[in-house]
Amino acid sequence: MARKIIIDTDPGQDDAVAILLALASPELEVLGITCVAGNVPLALTQRNARIVCELAGRPDMPVFAGATRPMVRSLVTAEYVHGKSGLNGPELWEPTMPLRKEHAVDFIVKTLRTNRDGAVTLCVLGPLTNIALALIKAPDIAGHIHEIVLMGGGCFEGGNTTPAAEFNIYVDPHAAKVVFSSGIPLVVMPLDLTHTTMTTRTRVSRFRALGNKAGVFTAEMLDFFERFDKEKYGSEGAPLHDPNVIAYLLQPEIYQGREVNIEIETESALTMGMSVVDWWRVSGRAPNATFMRKVDDEAFFDLLFDRIARL
Ligand code: RIB
Ligand code: CA
Repeated sequence: MARKIIIDTDPGQDDAVAILLALASPELEVLGITCVAGNVPLALTQRNARIVCELAGRPDMPVFAGATRPMVRSLVTAEYVHGKSGLNGPELWEPTMPLRKEHAVDFIVKTLRTNRDGAVTLCVLGPLTNIALALIKAPDIAGHIHEIVLMGGGCFEGGNTTPAAEFNIYVDPHAAKVVFSSGIPLVVMPLDLTHTTMTTRTRVSRFRALGNKAGVFTAEMLDFFERFDKEKYGSEGAPLHDPNVIAYLLQPEIYQGREVNIEIETESALTMGMSVVDWWRVSGRAPNATFMRKVDDEAFFDLLFDRIARL
């Protein structure tokens, strides 16, 4: 029986690779893809999600538009990383598959209320706005969620958007606070982990050498996506963040983490959006998340090559 998931996303090249991995993996049943403003505005994230679904041969995939901006703060985007389109690198096209009329938040609520057995996992690849709005609109759904696996936050690695904050949490810290205080089982893929799943020339060439459209498209995305982080970190490549969320569902054994308490800063201008991770358990606050810190990066990329080759 395939595992039921909803992917909430702000594509973004790394989101796109995560979506391709999910759509190429028969172990997963993607019930729908809900889009949120983040890397680029919503009009582009929902378009990009449909482009990726068409690339994967899944024009039937239900794709929904959600929040156009964070709950309280104004939207901060990341064209400087992802390009104006959000998917710079490959040649893009205007998708012909439909964007569903239902709001993403309503789709999430309806889907969780019709899958009341706790079978659905939420895979969150962008700011947590849609998830928080769903929990506020329909608090009853919290009990129907198997777990939330999200890319966001950081601890020893600091932030990538401010010295203290990682982008997904920084964009909507209030939404993150709602999710991290919900009591729902959380698995967090932070910068501490994603900064160890780095693209390299060899790895990008292996995507290109897959020879299929998805492989070449991925290589072209990564060629563009890595340029900013290579400059910033002086590294050979860039951290491939979001696919870790999906890879965890497929091969949890390649990940190592620890149950810790994580609180989100929503007051201080200096540390707004900081994920305050009690790694050494000094606060006395109850653990509310599994904070992943280590991954077998070779196994991670081998999984990506194996699956994207199938599209
Ligand atoms: O900080 C990295 C995260 O922010 C990734 O999910 C990337 O796609 C952006 O959304
Ligand atoms: Ca993302």
